[in-house]
Amino acid sequence: MAELPTLAAFVRARAEDAKLVMVTAYDVPTARAAAAGGVDALLVGDSLGQVLLGHDTTLSVTLDDMLHHARAVVRAVTGLPVVVDLPYGSFHVDPRDTVRQALRLVREAGVQAVKLEGGRKRADHIAALLDAEIPVMGHLGLTPQSVNVLGGYRVQGREDEQAEALLDEARFLGEAGCFAMVLECIPADLARRITEAVEIPTIGIGAGVECTGQVLVLHDLLGLSGEFKPRFVKRYADLGAAAGDAVADYAREVREGTFPAPEHTYGRGRRKAGSGTGKGYLSGLEEGGSG
Ligand code: KIV
Repeated sequence: MAELPTLAAFVRARAEDAKLVMVTAYDVPTARAAAAGGVDALLVGDSLGQVLLGHDTTLSVTLDDMLHHARAVVRAVTGLPVVVDLPYGSFHVDPRDTVRQALRLVREAGVQAVKLEGGRKRADHIAALLDAEIPVMGHLGLTPQSVNVLGGYRVQGREDEQAEALLDEARFLGEAGCFAMVLECIPADLARRITEAVEIPTIGIGAGVECTGQVLVLHDLLGLSGEFKPRFVKRYADLGAAAGDAVADYAREVREGTFPAPEHTYGRGRRKAGSGTGKGYLSGLEEGGSG
């Protein structure tokens, strides 16, 4: 039987003082790449609104968007826990409605946990989710769904008063039963204080090295986000440029008439049955030769 994905890696990371590695995944290729790279957990982030769907903010992302992408990610990997963002609006009204929406993500997509932005204000929603046996990851600091009240995407907690308020919210999330929390774009010394003050793992993005773990948007670390490169992102590859070069080679060969070559071309006569491998969009077609 396939290994059941659990949140044990989060508990272990905190208990053993080991770093936890998380990235976003939105579909089969990104989930497979992340799994091949040996991450501990995947996040189907609502950042997919900007990264994949071309929205300006995450505010337009719907539950159907999250379901669609979460299903693909869960289908792509075995044994890796998948956390999915609750989209804007799904945890801002009636907690019973939040549970209904989160239940769809668990039942229909098969994720192990949900993430929601905010602290005390969401107390009733967090309690209702936990009551429905749905593990909850918190998210403090720069919470992108609050972009309109924050007045833009800015580092949070730089002033003493704001830092103390964030520390208090973090304590609340730990006591409320969240299994982990994301700390986004806060000063490194505040992230360290929070990590020391709470018993659950902190997962930083733009929050310094002293969090329990780190999360990045996979497209950012792969160089697939165009010009977008905030200070906290390190590009480990430049796949955007590599993709452009590959397409340029293809376009040139098509125009020259050198693609498709004989080895990419079918002939008449006997076919090899079902020798295609993998799960390509036409898997089962024979490989190699000219038929
Ligand atoms: O939506 C997302 O990708 C996130 C991460 C940036 C933490 O919430």
